[in-house]
Amino acid sequence: MHNLPHVFIFPLPLQGPVNCMLKLAHLLAHHDIRITFLNTHHIHQRLLAHNNNHFNNYANLRFQTVPDGLPEDNPRTGDQIPNLLESMEIVSAPIFREMVTAVPESETPVTCIIADGIFTFAAGVAAEIGVPLLYFDTVSPCGFWTYLCLPKLIEAGEVPFKDDNMDEMIINAPGMEGIMRRRDLPSFCRAKDLDDPLIKLVLKEDDHIPLAQGLIFNTFQQLEAPILSQMRNICPNIYAVGPLHTHLKTRVLEAETTTSNSIWKEDMTCISWLDSQPLRSVVYVSIGSLAIISKEEFLELWHGLVNSGSRFLWVQRQGSVIGGANNMGFETPLQLAQGTKERGCIVSWAPQQVVLAHPSVGAFFTHSGWNSSLESIVEGKPMICWPYGVDQQVNSRYVGEVWKLGVDMKDMCDRVVIEKMVKEVMESRKDEFLERADHVAKLAKASVSQGGSSFQDLDRLVDDIKSMRIRARAASQLS
Ligand code: UDX
Repeated sequence: MHNLPHVFIFPLPLQGPVNCMLKLAHLLAHHDIRITFLNTHHIHQRLLAHNNNHFNNYANLRFQTVPDGLPEDNPRTGDQIPNLLESMEIVSAPIFREMVTAVPESETPVTCIIADGIFTFAAGVAAEIGVPLLYFDTVSPCGFWTYLCLPKLIEAGEVPFKDDNMDEMIINAPGMEGIMRRRDLPSFCRAKDLDDPLIKLVLKEDDHIPLAQGLIFNTFQQLEAPILSQMRNICPNIYAVGPLHTHLKTRVLEAETTTSNSIWKEDMTCISWLDSQPLRSVVYVSIGSLAIISKEEFLELWHGLVNSGSRFLWVQRQGSVIGGANNMGFETPLQLAQGTKERGCIVSWAPQQVVLAHPSVGAFFTHSGWNSSLESIVEGKPMICWPYGVDQQVNSRYVGEVWKLGVDMKDMCDRVVIEKMVKEVMESRKDEFLERADHVAKLAKASVSQGGSSFQDLDRLVDDIKSMRIRARAASQLS
């Protein structure tokens, strides 16, 4: 065991980032690399509570936890991310440093640190112990590229926005010419001034990204080649190893049996409901683990789904409606109750990868979180994109304008638009989108198959980590 490389993986403690970092950890452990996966107490307790402890199945994968410094009752929703990050900098970072710098003699010394790019403190810790750092930003590369372009956008006066014309084209994002409007930039670019906490966090992250020996992304070359080549101008060593959830299934057969890494309890009754629906007749609706919407938006979405006449499976995540969905303060309108009874199924959290793979699902009404987007792409399901924040604005633009995998409902939320877009994807343009989605799904699966670009990048990542270990052992023998 002592000769195996030892990698410390530290994800941003949110459902999306933890989901894909765990899949990477599982893949690396499968290739004889020892992993210490650092969760926060909060997230780890929820993972253990809602997953049959399949985490114990891997000899090379162990978990450690740190406090995130927030009160236990903090909802940790999207609006809380600045507080979470500030608290982790103060509370979690020193403990992380202690863990990595004081690995007991009996343990394998740390070979390499893989951390979320927002954890700028990881660069100092890696330098202190003299090990390589690989940043893994679990957002989309197209989204992350706009983060890296932020200094240029500010310098050119494109951010903050000079006026309220949200359709003004963006000039200073190389490789995105003719694609990005102001409204398609990450939500933090809509800030009124540069004192915005998220703007400051992203600029600080931009300063630290070049300190990494490599960047890992959950994407595949054929999907984002133009963006990845731009990224190589900042960091030449890029590992595009996604879609990680599919990559894991390709390489680790028993992964088929592992449950997803949900931090909520999955309501499996929706699968038997799907089993009784016609082929491709259901719109699956979910806004991920962080997005929160108003009661007005909630009702517009409900009316739009019912008026579309389509069947729908809707995830109403607990805490996702400001003020609470269940105490709407009025009886559910009869038309909504009737339409939902006839054609709908509502759960609080679904086994999303199973749902998206189900033949009865014809499209995905999504907030365009990157894990959700990739999961939809792999299953060949067209998307109706209603982005909430961070990279989702960029993802929804690429789905609608570049990849042609669906429609972008950005900045619109009324029952007429929702009805129209559901009918467009499920009826009038159904064949066009299904054909396109099937083509891209095939590219995704090919990339994680033997000889595919993501397969090769993961092999290179494993080899690079193992050579780090060999170099470290040689250096220690010389000293
Ligand atoms: C966050 C950001 O919002 C997202 O934009 C960023 O790219 C990653 O971090 P989140 O909002 O949770 O992620 O969205 P997403 O990335 O889609 O991750 C959600 C995960 O939860 C997916 O893997 C999805 O399969 C899972 N999920 C969602 C369920 O298992 N069940 C559900 O009912 C809903």
